[in-house]
Amino acid sequence: MRRGGAQRGRNAAPPSLHAAKFHAGAQIWAGCKKVHLLLGKPAAQRLASTMQPVLDYLKQHQDRFLAEFCDYLRFPSISAQPQHKKDLHACAEWLVAHCRAIGLEARLCATDGHPIVVAKTPRAKKSRQPHYLVYGHYDVQPPEPLELWLSPPFEPRISGRTIYARGSTDDKGQNFAHLKAVEAYLKTGTPLPCDLTFVLEGEEEVGSESLSGFLKANRRELACKAVVISDTGMPGLKHPALTYALRGIIAFEITLHGPACDLHSGVFGGAVENPAMALARLLAKVRDENGRVTIPGFYNGVAPLSKFERQQAARYPLTDAQLKKLLGPPKLFGERGFTPTEQRSARPTFEINGLTSGYQGDGSKTIVPAWARAKITCRLVPDQKPEHVRKIVVAHLKKICPPTVRLEINAGHGAEAYHVSPSSPLAQASLRALKQAFDAEPILMREGGSIPIVNQFKKILGADSLLLGLGLPDDNAHSPNEKFHLDCFEKGQRMSAYLWQELAA
Ligand code: BES
Ligand code: MN
Ligand code: MN
Repeated sequence: MRRGGAQRGRNAAPPSLHAAKFHAGAQIWAGCKKVHLLLGKPAAQRLASTMQPVLDYLKQHQDRFLAEFCDYLRFPSISAQPQHKKDLHACAEWLVAHCRAIGLEARLCATDGHPIVVAKTPRAKKSRQPHYLVYGHYDVQPPEPLELWLSPPFEPRISGRTIYARGSTDDKGQNFAHLKAVEAYLKTGTPLPCDLTFVLEGEEEVGSESLSGFLKANRRELACKAVVISDTGMPGLKHPALTYALRGIIAFEITLHGPACDLHSGVFGGAVENPAMALARLLAKVRDENGRVTIPGFYNGVAPLSKFERQQAARYPLTDAQLKKLLGPPKLFGERGFTPTEQRSARPTFEINGLTSGYQGDGSKTIVPAWARAKITCRLVPDQKPEHVRKIVVAHLKKICPPTVRLEINAGHGAEAYHVSPSSPLAQASLRALKQAFDAEPILMREGGSIPIVNQFKKILGADSLLLGLGLPDDNAHSPNEKFHLDCFEKGQRMSAYLWQELAA
C-alpha cells in the first residue's frame, strides 16, 4: 500500500508516489506549523533600488490601469456562445493593441476557433536570459441568469475596493495584472531579467481546443523554463497561495429516449416508462448519500494523500462553518474520512451540471416527456486516467440502464489532473514573490478546478506551470455578480514584478 512518509518518522525518505514527488518538500516542511520554507533572501531585496521605479510606477498609475481594465471587461467575450464570435475577435484585437502600446511585440493568431494573442517582451537576438510564458484567457463564461446580476455583467461597476463584471476574476483581472507589471518594467526602462511571452487564449472555458495545435506548431518559439499562470484562487488577502495540483475532468451528456413524442400523461402514463423518472433513478444509483461514487473501478489509481499533503490541506484558513456560510447550503456534504478542503480539491467527483426534461414553463402540463438529458462532469485526481474513467462510467451506465428507455451518450472534453512539485527552485521563487507582494506567509494548496492546457504545456513544451492565483473564494467565478478585489489586482501586479527577479536569481 502506498502511504505518506510521515508515518515512518520525520527523516525517513517517503516511499509513496506522492510523497516521492515532494521528497525535498516533505523533508523541509514535515511537521512545520507555518511554512518557513523560503530559502535564501529574496532577490528583489538585494535589488531594492532596481525595483523601486517599477513599484513606484505601479502605484502612480492605478487609476489609469483600472480604466483600462474596465475597457477589457466590456467585451462580452463569451466563448461558448457562437453569436459572440466577433466580440472575442474584438477583445483579442484590443489586447494586441494594448500589448503594443505598453511596449510588447504582439500579434493576433487566427485559429479554427477564437484567436490566440501572443505578445513578447523586446529581447536581444541571442538572449541568454531565461524565457517564461505567461498564460491566461480572455474568454469568459456565459453570464446567465442575467436577472441575478445587480449590475449588467459587461458594464463594470466599482464599489469600494471591488470591481464587478463577468471575467473580472476569471481571468481578465488576473492576466491583466501581469501585463501591468511588465508595462512598469518597460515604461521605466528597468531591465527585465527574463524574456517573457504572453499567450492569451479565447477558448479556455470551452476546452482550449485550438491551443494544443498552436503549441505544437510553435514549439520552438514557445520553448520556456516554465509557464506562469494566474487563473486560480487564494484563500484570502493575508493568505497568498501557490497551487501545486489541479483536478482533471471528463465531460459528457446522457440522454434517455422514451416515447417517440411527448405523450398525454393521463392517457398513456403508467404504460410507458417516463424518461425523466428513469434518468433520476439512473443518476441516483451512481453516487451514495455520502458522495462516494459507486461505479465499480471509479477510484482505481487514485493516489492516496500523504500526511504531508493532509497537513497542508489542514492549513487552509477557511473553517467548515465559514465555508458553509460562504456557500449557503443548509448543511455541508461530502465523502467520509476527508475534510471539505480535501473533498473539493483532492478527491474525484461525479456531478450533474444540468438536468433537462419535459415542460419548464409556467403552470402545469400533463405529459410523459419523450426524453430526459443530463450534462455531467467528473473531476479527476492523480493518477486517474480520463479515458479509462470515461470507459468504465459509460459501461456502467449502459449496464444499469433499463430496457424501457434508449441511452445515448455524447462524449465531451477531458483532461488529466495536474500535479507539480512545490519544492522546486521555481516554486520557491514563486513563494518569495508572493510573500513580498502580499506581505504574508504563502500557503501551498491543491485546487479542485481544472485548467486542461497545463497538461499540454508539460507534454508539448516540457514546461511546468506555476499556478499563482489571485482570485478569492467569494469572487463568484462562473456565477452572477462575479467580482475581483482591487487589492488582488494591485498586489498581483507587484507579485508579477517581483517574480521576474526571483525567477532570474
Ligand atoms: N480558472 C478556472 C479554473 C480554476 C478555477 C482552477 C479556480 C482552480 C481554481 C478555469 O477558467 C475554468 O473554469 N476551468 C474549467 C475547465 C473546463 C471548462 C474544461 C473548469 O474547471 O470547470
Ligand atoms: Mn479561468
Ligand atoms: Mn473559468
